[in-house]
Amino acid sequence: MSEFRGKRIVLGVTGGVAAYKAAELVRLLVKAGAEVDVAQTAAGAQFVGAATFQALTGRRVWHGLWDERMDSGMAHIDLTRGAAALLVAPATADFLAKLAHGLADDLLSTLCLARDCPLLVAPAMNRQMWENPATQRNIAQLRLDGVSILGPAYGEQACGELGDGRMLEAGELFDDLYASLQAKPFAGKHVLLTAGPTFEALDPVRGLTNSSSGKMGFALARACVDAGAEVTLIAGPVSLATPRGVRRVDVQTALQMRAAVMQSLPGQNVFIGVAAVADYRPRQTAPHKIKKGPGSLTLELEANPDILAEVAALPDAPFCVGFAAESRDLAAGAEGKRVAKKLALVVGNLVQDGLCGDTNAVTLFDAAGAHGLPLADKSEVARGIVAHIVALLGGQHVQH
Ligand code: PMT
Repeated sequence: MSEFRGKRIVLGVTGGVAAYKAAELVRLLVKAGAEVDVAQTAAGAQFVGAATFQALTGRRVWHGLWDERMDSGMAHIDLTRGAAALLVAPATADFLAKLAHGLADDLLSTLCLARDCPLLVAPAMNRQMWENPATQRNIAQLRLDGVSILGPAYGEQACGELGDGRMLEAGELFDDLYASLQAKPFAGKHVLLTAGPTFEALDPVRGLTNSSSGKMGFALARACVDAGAEVTLIAGPVSLATPRGVRRVDVQTALQMRAAVMQSLPGQNVFIGVAAVADYRPRQTAPHKIKKGPGSLTLELEANPDILAEVAALPDAPFCVGFAAESRDLAAGAEGKRVAKKLALVVGNLVQDGLCGDTNAVTLFDAAGAHGLPLADKSEVARGIVAHIVALLGGQHVQH
């Protein structure tokens, strides 16, 4: 993970139970290469001690307006200079009220006023505090002021009640913060993807499938959302969490995947087939478990429709991107599929590089030739693929 390499984030922690999630968020950010400066309010320091954040960030934690560690003596200004973002998580109802009114009576509220980086807040409070008209007024004002509001989520609260007001989980905040810092070349675009394997049942317990984990397709869906697209993901049977902001449709078989794709297709600008669709399905699915017999068993298979080829052949087809998974002769196989299916772009990968694991090495085949993306985390590879698609849509030739 290197999403935040070279970036400094200022994390404000105010006084809520959810401060424990801020510690996990710091861990994720540091792991992703960020430098994190934590500024706690006096109430925030009551929940998670400075020593925890200091250990996680490797940096001193900031508390007061009169801190002498900053050479200029102006921590309230200097701390956010050069920072990529200031995120307040958790942000209490009280702190949001202060922000909405421009109060600046401690280090964190002062930092929020004296900044030239984006400000994001993650509200965390009891559901009645969240629903209170005063809080809703303050949130509306903050939105008008250009502050990004992350969450809150619905769920069980520290007080035992159920409702809106839970702070987002650390991983969700990480994703939202990352997305907020990305350029949005896909803004206004609609992207449809397939991901994962399909499962073609032989009987109620067995079937034909493959070992696609869905990781490449899910990473690509997330990269498209981060780039500003409206994303629909048709997923075969995988056990992955849905990336934030993605509309997901779960299917089992190739026929179901095809139906879901065709149903979601109107209005799509880009279609990306990442799924490892089973080329064949059993001609018949036994209604009961097939019993073991004395001799061999012959299965009769019939061809599944090629979803990508069908979409690409439509008169009003979106910009179509295929994947090619090969075990050898990558260039011949991938370029052959690009020409046969009349695709603008095929992402070729060797199964030994890309199937199942967290990393992949791909070669992008388009009309201008082959462009390699080196072995990297699938999220990084996905960003490279999105950048290539954006460039092709803009009519550019791409050098990697
Ligand atoms: O899921 P992971 O574990 O992360 O692994 C990622 C991956 C290796 C599965 C992925 O990177 C990949 O290569 N996906 C395509 C796998 C594949 O089935 O390739 P193919 O060469 O058989 O198919 C070519 C293209 O046609 C693909 O875009 C495929 O989605 C599409 N296709 C194939 C058959 C079919 N019946 N319908 C289709 O739409």
